[in-house]
Order: sequence, then structure tokens, then C-alpha cells
Amino acid sequence: MAKISSPSQSSPSGAKHHISGFVIVVCAIAAIGGLLFGYDTGVISGAILFIKQQFVLDSTMQEFTVSAVLIGAVPGAALGGILGDRFGRRNMIMLAAIIFGVGALVTALTPNLDLLIFGRIIVGVGIGIASFISPMYISEVAPKSIRGTLVFLNQLALTIGILLAYLVDYLFIKVPDGWRWMLGLAIVPALALGIGMLKMPNSPRWLVMKNRGGQARTDLSKIRGTQNVDAELQDIHQSLATGGSSSWADLLKPALRLPLVIGIGLAIFQQATGINTVIYYAPTILKFSGIDSNAISILGTTGIGVINVIFTIIGAWLVDRAGRRPLLLTSLSGMAIALGLLAIAFQLPQLTSSLGLAVVLILMLYVASFAIGLGPVFWLLISEIYPLHIRSKAMSVATVANWGANLIVAVTFLSIVKSLGRPGAFWLYAALTVASVLFTYFLVPETKGRTLEQVQEELKNHHLH
Ligand code: BGC
Repeated sequence: MAKISSPSQSSPSGAKHHISGFVIVVCAIAAIGGLLFGYDTGVISGAILFIKQQFVLDSTMQEFTVSAVLIGAVPGAALGGILGDRFGRRNMIMLAAIIFGVGALVTALTPNLDLLIFGRIIVGVGIGIASFISPMYISEVAPKSIRGTLVFLNQLALTIGILLAYLVDYLFIKVPDGWRWMLGLAIVPALALGIGMLKMPNSPRWLVMKNRGGQARTDLSKIRGTQNVDAELQDIHQSLATGGSSSWADLLKPALRLPLVIGIGLAIFQQATGINTVIYYAPTILKFSGIDSNAISILGTTGIGVINVIFTIIGAWLVDRAGRRPLLLTSLSGMAIALGLLAIAFQLPQLTSSLGLAVVLILMLYVASFAIGLGPVFWLLISEIYPLHIRSKAMSVATVANWGANLIVAVTFLSIVKSLGRPGAFWLYAALTVASVLFTYFLVPETKGRTLEQVQEELKNHHLH
């Protein structure tokens, strides 16, 4: 296990961070990036029902239309890594907002399917960028004592985005060409994000990296609500002085091996344990369990969305108290139990309607367990464990792995169900969840209560050889 010593032993300067009201506003605006990530991934589940009728899509084309955002998110995450250091976190979030806006307009106004798919790929590029730049920006402006909670805010916005998407889908069911509204309404949060970020400061950590120390001091004082920021600035300078250069090749240096394995490993496990089979295919899974009423299926799906929001809030409250590791391990254990129960339920020969209800409850246990830990903690940890000089690139690699794994799970889910059977498919996800418990137990560090600089200093001493 990569143990990190207690914060008081290792603070180079004993920097104290004040909590100002302004920092909460800054993080809330940046979290609209998370809201768009959630909205734009969730909205297609309802919109596709109408798009398939309008453009007469067979099942392959439906799958392609649904996966188009994932296809865009992989290069989007890479682009974020390439441009993130040069242009800064704030400008990258604004770029993502513009891309979200353009994508929303293209998909809402498209005259044909080709342009619709193209528009969804554009939206995917925005998601790929925002998915990691928003948490990175939040983590770099947050005071250490509530950094976990503030980064959870991004995931909370994400889950609210998914729920909002379900709601908008429902509201526009009866409206002619309603799918255009469903996709196009993303322009509202995109504008809020773009305009809101105009007024937000740059990340002081990025400013120091760019040798703009004077501006960093001004912005950090504003964010902290105090002029007393010397100690924090000194920690940032010191961590940059002891860091290396920031080329892609640097990622392969021994000191970065463990953080990179943790980031990529958690990225893959976050997806391979099956969350998006539920988020994207909940109505299908509910149908497997014998529920054939559309109303109950929609209600079940909405219930799952609500549970996702509620348990993210509970996680946000716990993360800076209990710590990242206990949350992750509890989360993964709950998910493993739920997946095992799901597999057993599908093994029973006779599916009755009460079993259908049991499946809904098991899915809720599964999503609640994900929401309290694995969902947000992955994005939080990758914003904490990399040194500043290489953070943007390293986070981008972990994010590419996350979207790549997401794409693979999304396009293989239905064929896995076909070849292994329903119980077999869920036993497979359960086995992968057990593997991620071991991965977390042995490799994932505790980062609660430390400054970003302390986390990296202490991780350096735990190379993987
Ligand atoms: C994951 C997404 C998932 C979402 C569900 C995020 O942390 O990265 O793939 O759809 O959580 O809430």
C-alpha cells in the first residue's frame, strides 16, 4: 500500500488555507463543466427514441449515434492535455464551453443524420476536455481542508446534469421535434459556463508555473480572502523547483510510475466495473428483470438518477472526514455485493414481478455505492496525485484511459450479455470489482488533509520499480 505520512509531519511551511465565500463561487462556476458532462451523456437515452424514428436507424446506427460522444471524448481528453499547460485551466474551461455551445447548436439544427453524429462528436470533445480540466482547476484553487468536498461538487453537478437530462427528455416527449430541444438546451449551461468563467481568476498554481508570480499572489489573495498567502505560494514554488520538465516523455520517469499506474488503473476500473451499463442501459436492464411497463421503467431510471445525486452529496460530506481510501473501499465492496446479487437474480429460472422490484433495489444499491466513492474519488485523486509541472498531461492520460474504457464497455455490453448470458455478464463485472478492491487496497494512497504539494512530495518516495 502506498502509505502517506500524516500531514503535520510533512508540511514544508505549515501553510494554512483560509476558506472564503469566493472560492465556493469559483468552484461552483467551474462545476458547470461537470453539469454539461452529465447532461450531454444522459440526454441521448431519451432523445435516441425519437431520432431513430425520424432517421429510420437500425440497431448498429443507433449504437453509433449513442456512442458518438464517447468517440469525441477520447481525443478531447488528449487535446486537453496538449493545450492545458499552454493556455491555462480557466481558458481551457472556456474553450470547452464554446465547444459545448457549438455542438448543441449543430445537433439541434441539423438537417441530416451525418451532421447530427458530427455534432455529437463535437460535444464529446467538449466533454473530454471539461471532464478533467474542471476538477483540476477546482482542486488547484481549493483550500486543502475542503478540497475533497469541492471536487465532489463537480461530480454532484454531473449527477444533477444526468437527472436534468432525464427530466428534459420526459418534458419534450410530446413536443414535435422534441429531440432537437433535448440536445439544444445544453446551450444554456454552456453560456453560463463560458460567461461565468470570464470573471473567474486563473489557477494560481498555473500562474506560478508560467512565471507570473505577481498575478498568482493577487489571485490567490482574492481566492483565499486574505493577504496572508506567502506560505502557500512558497510551497508551490518549492514543488516546481524540485519537479522536472513537463514533456510527455517525463511521464515515464520512475518517480511518476506509481501515480500513473494509480490514475490509469482507477480510470479503467471506474468503467470496467460497469457503471455506464446502468447509466446508459438502465431501462434495458429493468426489462431483463421482467418489468415491461414503460412507466415503471422510466420511474425506475429516474429513481436511479435521484439516488446517484443523493449519495454523491453524502460522499461529499464524508470525503474530507473519513478520507479517500475508506470511501473507495466501502464503495467498491457495495458495488461487488450488488453485482453478485444481480447475477444471482438473473440466474433464477422464474422472474416474477417482485423479482423485478428486487432488481430495481439492487441497481439502487449499486449506484449508491458508486456515487459515494468510485465515481467522484477517481476524478478527485487524479487531480491530487500528480506534480504541478506534469499534472495536466498526466490527468489527460488517465482521462483518455477512462473514456477509452467507457467506449469499450458501452459497445461490448450487449454482446457480452449475448455471449455470456445475463448472469455471466454481471459475474464478470463483479469479478472486475473484486480486482479493483485489491488494486485500491494495495496501491491507492490517502490524500486527505494534505496540500497538493505534500501529496506529491510523499508519493515520490514510493516508486514502483
Ligand atoms: C463517470 C461517468 C459516469 C458518471 C455517473 C462519472 O464519475 O466518469 O462515466 O457516467 O460518473 O454518475
